[in-house]
Amino acid sequence: MLTARWQLDFFIVVVLFARCQHCLDNGLALTPPLGWITTERFECLVDCANYPDDCISEKLIKTTADTIVKYGLRDVGFRYLIIGDCWMNETRDRHGNLEADPDRFPDGIKALAQYVHDRGLLLGLEIDLSNVSCNGRPGSYGNYNRDASTLASWGVDYVKATACSFKNIDKLEGAYPSMGTALNKTRRHMVYDCNWPIEIQKYGKQPDYSLISKTCNIFSTSQLMADSWESLEKTIKHFSSLSRDLVNYTHPGSWSFPNPILVGDYGLSYSEQAMQLAVWSIMNAPLLVSADLRKINDYQRALLLNKVTLTVDQDVSYQMGTEAILNRLLLQTGQVHIWRKSIQPEGSFALALMYFNISGGPTRVSVILRDLGVHGSEWYKLTNILTGQQIGMYKSWYTFNCEVNPVGVLFVRAEAIR
Ligand SMILES: *[C@@H]1O[C@H](CO)[C@@H](O)[C@H](O)[C@H]1NC(C)=O
Ligand SMILES: *[C@@H]1O[C@H](CO)[C@@H](O)[C@H](O)[C@H]1NC(C)=O
Ligand SMILES: *[C@@H]1O[C@H](CO)[C@@H](O)[C@H](O)[C@H]1NC(C)=O
Ligand SMILES: *[C@@H]1O[C@H](CO)[C@@H](O)[C@H](O)[C@H]1NC(C)=O
Ligand SMILES: *[C@@H]1O[C@H](CO)[C@@H](O)[C@H](O)[C@H]1NC(C)=O
Repeated sequence: MLTARWQLDFFIVVVLFARCQHCLDNGLALTPPLGWITTERFECLVDCANYPDDCISEKLIKTTADTIVKYGLRDVGFRYLIIGDCWMNETRDRHGNLEADPDRFPDGIKALAQYVHDRGLLLGLEIDLSNVSCNGRPGSYGNYNRDASTLASWGVDYVKATACSFKNIDKLEGAYPSMGTALNKTRRHMVYDCNWPIEIQKYGKQPDYSLISKTCNIFSTSQLMADSWESLEKTIKHFSSLSRDLVNYTHPGSWSFPNPILVGDYGLSYSEQAMQLAVWSIMNAPLLVSADLRKINDYQRALLLNKVTLTVDQDVSYQMGTEAILNRLLLQTGQVHIWRKSIQPEGSFALALMYFNISGGPTRVSVILRDLGVHGSEWYKLTNILTGQQIGMYKSWYTFNCEVNPVGVLFVRAEAIR
C-alpha cells in the first residue's frame, strides 16, 4: 500500500518534472508575451485634469486597445495591455479589497477587462507584494489570497508583481512563491511577472534564476531603462554576459524580461529602436511596448509589425540567443558586436551586427560566414530583416562583406538551404 502510494507520487513527480523541468507550469507564456505596458512612457501619471489623454485611466487603456486592433498589432500577436503602478485608489475599499481609482476608472477593472477581452486582447495589472507600492499605493502584504481572488474575479490575465518596500530579505524571498501559490489557487490562469531578480539585487545578493524561473512566467533582469541611447547601450552590454547565464532558465513558460520596448518614444533614433527590437528578439524577450501607440509614426509601426523580427522572437525551438563570443579575427572589427540565435528552419540563424561607435561613418565588416557561427548547411540565403531585401546566397566559407552604420544594426536572417 505504502509502496503503491509512493510509486504514484513518484510517477506524478516524474511526469511534472519531465514536462517542465525549469519553468512555471501554468500553461501560459509558452512563447514570450507581446503587448503594451504603461510603466516607462506613462509612469505614474495620474493628473487627468492636465493630461486627460495620457493619465493612467480607462480612457488610455481603451483608446490603446482600439489602436492595437486598428493598426493590426493584435493580429501579429500584441495581445497584452498591462497597467503598471497607480491604477489603484489610495486606500483599499471598506471591505479591505483592492480597488481602482474611481475617478480614473469609473467603470471599474472588471468592465475594462471585458472591453479588452471583447477586442481579442488581454489585461494585466501591477501589484506590489510589500506593504506599499513604489508610488505609495496599497501593497498586498498579508492579503495575497484576497488580492489574487480579486484579480481573478475581475478577469485579469497577467499579474506583474513588484516588491518595493520590504525592509527584510527573508520576507522578500517568501513573497514571490507565496503570491504564486495564491494566484494558482484562484484557478484562473494568469501570467505571473516578477520583479524578483531586481529586488534581490538591492540586498547585494545574486538571484537564484533556477528557483525564479520555476515560480514566475516572466522575470525582470535589468533595472528600468531610460529613453536614451546611453541607457540602451548600457542595458545591451549588461546582457552581453548575463544572456549566457540565462539560457538554461528561459523556456516556454518562463522568460527573462530585459525591459519594455521603447519603439515609438522620444529618446532613441530609428536605428536605435531597430537595434533594441533586434537584440530583444534574439533573446526571446517579451516585447512589451511602452509608448503612446496612438501617436507612433509609420516607420515605428512598420518596425513593430515586422513579421520576421516577431518570428525570431517567438521562435522557441532553440535556446535564447546571446552575444556571440568573437574569435581573434572578429576582434579586429573593433566595436562591432554580434548577437546570434538559432531559428527555424533547422540550421538557420538570426544575426544582429551592431556598431556602437558614435563618431564617424559606417564601419566595414568583412568576415567568413563560418566565423559568425553560420555553418552546417550547404547554402545560406541571407536577407536583411529590416528592409526585407535579399543579400544573396552564401556558402559558409564565403566572405560576407557589409557595412554597419554608427549606432546602427544590420539584422540578418541566414536561412539554411539543404
Ligand atoms: C478612494 O480613496 C480615497 C482617499 O483615501 C477615499 O477617500 C475614498 O473613499 C476612496 N474611494 C472609494 C470609492 O473607496
Ligand atoms: C506591514 O505593516 C504592518 C503594520 O504596520 C507591519 O506590522 C508589518 O511588519 C509590515 N510588513 C512588512 C513586510 O513590512
Ligand atoms: C496550478 O499549478 C498546477 C501544478 O503546477 C498546474 O498544473 C496548474 O495548471 C496551475 N493552475 C493555474 C490556474 O495556474
Ligand atoms: C546549462 O546547462 C547545461 C546542461 O545541463 C550545462 O552544461 C551548462 O553549463 C549550463 N550553462 C550555464 C551557463 O549554466
Ligand atoms: C570610432 O570612430 C572614430 C571616428 O571614425 C575612430 O577614430 C575611432 O577609432 C573609432 N573607435 C573605435 C573603438 O573603433
